[in-house]
Amino acid sequence: MAKDPVRVLVTGAAGQIGYALVPMIARGIMLGPDQPVILHMLDIPPAAEALNGVKMELVDAAFPLLKGVVATTDVVEACTGVNVAVMVGGFPRKEGMERKDVMSKNVSIYKAQASALEKYAAANCKVLVVANPANTNALILKEFAPSIPEKNITCLTRLDHNRALGQISERLNIQVSDVKNVIIWGNHSSSQYPDVNHATAAGKPVRELVKDDEWLNGEFITTVQQRGAAIIKARRLSSALSAASSACDHIRDWVLGTPEGTWVSMGVYSDGSYNVPAGLIYSFPVTCKNGEWTIVQGLPIDEFSRKKMDATAEELSEEKALAYSCLS
Ligand code: NAD
Ligand code: LMR
Repeated sequence: MAKDPVRVLVTGAAGQIGYALVPMIARGIMLGPDQPVILHMLDIPPAAEALNGVKMELVDAAFPLLKGVVATTDVVEACTGVNVAVMVGGFPRKEGMERKDVMSKNVSIYKAQASALEKYAAANCKVLVVANPANTNALILKEFAPSIPEKNITCLTRLDHNRALGQISERLNIQVSDVKNVIIWGNHSSSQYPDVNHATAAGKPVRELVKDDEWLNGEFITTVQQRGAAIIKARRLSSALSAASSACDHIRDWVLGTPEGTWVSMGVYSDGSYNVPAGLIYSFPVTCKNGEWTIVQGLPIDEFSRKKMDATAEELSEEKALAYSCLS
């Protein structure tokens, strides 16, 4: 029997990530090839005409799984009844800016949209924040939507996770699908800590295969940390296809589960695991089952990792304080 459609909200849907993301969702890449979807697309009035153009293209593409499209500039209409919300709407950073430079514009959007999601989304709606500063926008959304369970509010660090897989795959000249269990700790910013201490490639420890700790503790980390800036420099636009694809990976694994023996990185509400301060949205290694994520516990943390995990937590605490000062 055919499944009931799932309603998926994409905010900022007329933007460049939106344009890459909505066809992926309509093709079943996010929720599976047998899951019908109804797309809700929100943007702001200056983008209404462009948004309508995206809707026309979705109709023209005749996606078999797409059972309806709501394209609107009304946040209430956009949020009503949604089961999954992918929050992309906001202002991207430009060359020379840090992600926290876009803070004041974006946190006020997330405060307002938190209330709409809380009132109008389906119970148990899963929220993924993509717009930067992603962790802090997610935290603001969580704090201003107190009735949404905190487990349902996450941010995207899967792009960083996938970037780390890509770098190891290139270095070892091995299929990316054979590289597993890298970790992104902390903030989706240049303070993030891409950790390969538990990663494997074709079943063997990545450190043993790479045989170059200087590269793994240096250039590998900075390449992943700075990849967003490198894309902006090259494209004069921030990453879009890789961001959209990683957003699909994030929701797919959250809803459908992670493969046995594999974890992924998600920005989730910290419960104090690994001595990360509670009350931050921090990227951890997680496994997912039955629509719930669980932080992977018990991984040994060496002194090098500890320092990097603490530094990115410190930045998130500062961002949190800055976000509140922007809202007051
Ligand atoms: P974009 O400027 O092309 O699109 C953003 C869209 O959001 C625009 O259409 C804009 O009109 C819309 N928008 C602005 N305010 C809105 C509001 N209040 N409600 C609804 N829509 C609104 O930007 P983009 O390249 O698509 O990037 C979107 C965001 O994602 C940026 O913040 C960017 O920095 C971030 N990003 C995050 C990651 C990640 O890995 N977490 C990766 C890439 C980009
Ligand atoms: C990215 O990582 O590509 C995005 O967060 C865009 C940016 O500002 O770096």
